[in-house]
Amino acid sequence: MKTTKLVALVTTLAVALFILIPSLSWAEDGAALYKAKCAACHGADATGKPAAKIPSLIAEDVKAKSDSDFAATITSTAKHPAGVKSLSADDAKAIVTYIRTLQK
Ligand code: HEC
Repeated sequence: MKTTKLVALVTTLAVALFILIPSLSWAEDGAALYKAKCAACHGADATGKPAAKIPSLIAEDVKAKSDSDFAATITSTAKHPAGVKSLSADDAKAIVTYIRTLQK
């Protein structure tokens, strides 16, 4: 009886972890978030669209921002759509980490 319960518990935990872990790492996948939430405006290469007054994110002034300022700008820019302004701090950080790879 005890063994059966233990097996059931371990199985439940294994299934729960299997479901939770990939979705957690997906939520913090900066590259996927960037493509879904930012690329339409700022471009896949983050160079922006000068004609539409959308700034480049690989410009020197953006490079010079600290990670926390950069993440804060994402959620505080008035012209950003609601889906961008409502990003969690963790998602904004993951996106900043990804954009840093484009800035190099
Ligand atoms: C609907 C189009 C749109 C989307 C989507 C969008 N942006 Fe922007 N973004 C803009 C515009 C327009 C500005 C300029 C705002 C201004 O001049 O006040 C801007 C400004 C910025 C700035 C400030 C740049 C600077 O020079 O200081 C950053 C950083 C930024 N966006 C990052 C992001 C990130 C990261 C995402 C995705 C999570 C994103 N944006 C999604 C249109 C967009």
